[in-house]
Amino acid sequence: MSEVAKIEYNGQVYELPVVTGSENEKGIDIAKLRGSSGGLITLDRGFKNTGSCESAITFLNGEEGILRYRGYSIEELADKADFLEVAYLLIFGELPTQEQLSKFDADIKAEAHVDEDVKRILDGFPKSAHPMGVLSALTSALIAFNPSSVNANSEEEMYQAIVKIMAKFPVLTAWAHRKRMGLPLDYGDDNLGYVQNFLKMMFKKPNAEYQENKIITNAIDKLLILHADHEQNCSTSTVRIVGSSHAGLFASLSAGISALWGPLHGGANQAVIEMLEAIKADGGDTKKYMGKAKDKEDPFRLMGFGHRVYKNFDPRAKIIKVAADEVLGDLGVEDPVLGIAKGLEQEALSDAYFVDRKLYPNVDFYSGIIYRALGIPTEMFTPMFALGRLPGWIAQWREMRLKGEPIGRPRQIYTGANARDFKDIANR
Ligand code: SDX
Repeated sequence: MSEVAKIEYNGQVYELPVVTGSENEKGIDIAKLRGSSGGLITLDRGFKNTGSCESAITFLNGEEGILRYRGYSIEELADKADFLEVAYLLIFGELPTQEQLSKFDADIKAEAHVDEDVKRILDGFPKSAHPMGVLSALTSALIAFNPSSVNANSEEEMYQAIVKIMAKFPVLTAWAHRKRMGLPLDYGDDNLGYVQNFLKMMFKKPNAEYQENKIITNAIDKLLILHADHEQNCSTSTVRIVGSSHAGLFASLSAGISALWGPLHGGANQAVIEMLEAIKADGGDTKKYMGKAKDKEDPFRLMGFGHRVYKNFDPRAKIIKVAADEVLGDLGVEDPVLGIAKGLEQEALSDAYFVDRKLYPNVDFYSGIIYRALGIPTEMFTPMFALGRLPGWIAQWREMRLKGEPIGRPRQIYTGANARDFKDIANR
């Protein structure tokens, strides 16, 4: 017997089915509300209480701070898997066998070249261009060089588009970095693993052999896993809604990159370091900045704190905080902003304003400290987030397309002028 919810309005009672998920989450299915009530719709600014889909990819429990990819805990995956394995899991639903993983890796390597003409597009950007804008543009430009990726309707066509972008996105990310640093572009090496190869493309000096630092490779691999998916966040919802028009995978990803760029979303990792640097420059007075964060008249927010879903510790932040201590210790890096970050966290966790609003550190609070210790420039922090989130965006786009979801088109409540007649300009 399926559950129903009842909405009473204007003397009428409308019964709506309740959907129950595999983790016993409940959703009122309002598909028939407008039609059965003569026009009643729901309104939910920022979709804080509204589900856009049923998905089998990632499960979050914000109250308990739980994050699972396809049923596996983020803690286990970060500890035991590697990024390409997690990408396969997210996209295809199961942890790969060695044979499946080797084929995925080989299919990606076979697509790792980026058309030389894309370099000419990159050349057109000023060095000062933010790499997120470059990445969004180049991802969209890839469509012109891979036209078959646009109308990917069958699973096989989707697979071909997926391995293409999994191969070319790390190249574009590294190229965006090298362009800003005035370095010649690097094409990578098929003998290296996915993350090793990305780091080689990022950091290989033009006049020296690339020397891998395993500590850095392992730390980046773990960070990419932690960023790989997060159900219906702003950028993933963007990828889904653009993809719902059948605009193609690369166009959908390009839109998702732009959404992630915002400082309230993925851009927060860059904003956190800029905030910590400002506090350091201001004498490390964390209490002053805590006061600013609580002052409604002050636009300042404690970047890296708070989350739409997590009303407990973001499990990723807990893992990254431990990794920050380990990586900086292993590399012998002293970074004073780590101490400032820990001080802010301690103060916030005992401050009524933050406790009452259940504001805890999120994934962005400590990640920038590790990226910086690994030699990644601040403006490349959000591109790193995008590289991590790539398989999640792909998985969500593929699920949406394979399920044949309808084109996304929300309704609205109109609050503008009522009907009125046109006035000639002489009479206005
Ligand atoms: C990511 O959705 C995802 O899953 C995203 C993400 C992913 O993996 O995809 O997890 C990645 O985007 C993490 C979030 C990164 N952003 C930041 O760190 C920016 C700082 N955080 C805030 O801007 C805010 O917390 C949001 C945007 C993250 C969440 O905003 P909500 O859910 O809309 O909450 P809200 O703005 O309504 O805040 C509720 C209250 C308000 O105070 P009151 O009006 O109740 O008095 O909390 C306050 C807010 O002013 N508040 C903060 C705050 N965050 C919320 N006050 C000070 N500093 C903050 N950081």
